[in-house]
Amino acid sequence: MSKLTVDIASIQLANPVLVSAGTFGYGDELAEVMDINQLGAIVTKTLTLKPRLGNPAPRIIPTTGGMMNSVGLQNMGIESFLQTHLPELRQKITIPLIVSIMGDSPEEFKSLAGMFNGLTGVSALELNLSCPNVKAGGSSFGVDPQLAGEVVQAVKEAVKLPVFAKLTPNVTDIGVIAKAVEAAGADAIVAVNTFNALSIDPETHHSRLGNWKGGLSGPAIKPLALYQVYHTVQAVKIPVIGMGGILTASDALEFILAGASAVSIGTGNFINPRTPLKVIKGINQYLEKHHLSDFQTLRGTFNPSLSG
Ligand SMILES: Cc1cc2nc3c(=O)[nH]c(=O)nc-3n(C[C@H](O)[C@H](O)[C@H](O)COP(=O)(O)O)c2cc1C
Repeated sequence: MSKLTVDIASIQLANPVLVSAGTFGYGDELAEVMDINQLGAIVTKTLTLKPRLGNPAPRIIPTTGGMMNSVGLQNMGIESFLQTHLPELRQKITIPLIVSIMGDSPEEFKSLAGMFNGLTGVSALELNLSCPNVKAGGSSFGVDPQLAGEVVQAVKEAVKLPVFAKLTPNVTDIGVIAKAVEAAGADAIVAVNTFNALSIDPETHHSRLGNWKGGLSGPAIKPLALYQVYHTVQAVKIPVIGMGGILTASDALEFILAGASAVSIGTGNFINPRTPLKVIKGINQYLEKHHLSDFQTLRGTFNPSLSG
């Protein structure tokens, strides 16, 4: 039997395939169509202090090889989640649950994080430093190494749970941001969020989305995301969870060869909610085909000096 288990910041995962924030609801919405407990871990939709209605429609449009979204962080707010949803999730989920949070300031991130002290059923917090769709705050934390570090430090002071920093790819050098969040105490990095994108309808001269811009995801971004993940891995020692356009086991393996400790699937869940399960199966088949007993022997074995 091949081995798919992996530890990320002392959290034991049965396999290295997660589902990404904002693409899998609050964690259990898809429990009727698949066995969600076969996943490595689940990351919730990003939660904010107050409920948010999000951006005007249309919020999602197809693009060549992907999709653009401007959901604008619609969510039920942290209190509803903790009081009404988390108790139900605890009954249904046996795998690690990672809760994604976003605040308007380091202080707001800190108070959100403080609410998780003493709670059971949550394995880690993921800090959304990168959402490009929110008019106030939004990407500003993730494009500034000092601010990104301040947020991580504030959260680490407030909570004992492992803290994952999710980075935006919309920067000149992601390695600089990665180093800053590592120095501030992040236990892992999640890379990457969507790429800033624009789609204009020539008939109306307006954006095709309800918001003027959106975030591009899906297969179209895979080579771009892979480059950013490789660069992130080179910059830090903490584990990196890689994502961006993964639909198949072969896609996931590219991220592992680039050095990711685990991978995550976002847009793939909209195409087929069973995509992550197919990826897990495919990684197993690859390991068997190549007579490998542990997927971790593949991690970071990409050699940039050998090409073609
Ligand atoms: C509809 C949609 C909603 C998203 N919502 C969030 C979110 O709430 N928080 C977050 O950190 N990332 C969010 N993302 C970004 C994804 O988690 C992921 O980082 C990105 O889409 C790249 O991966 P993919 O190409 O596999 O989708 C969202 C993406 C999509 C497509």
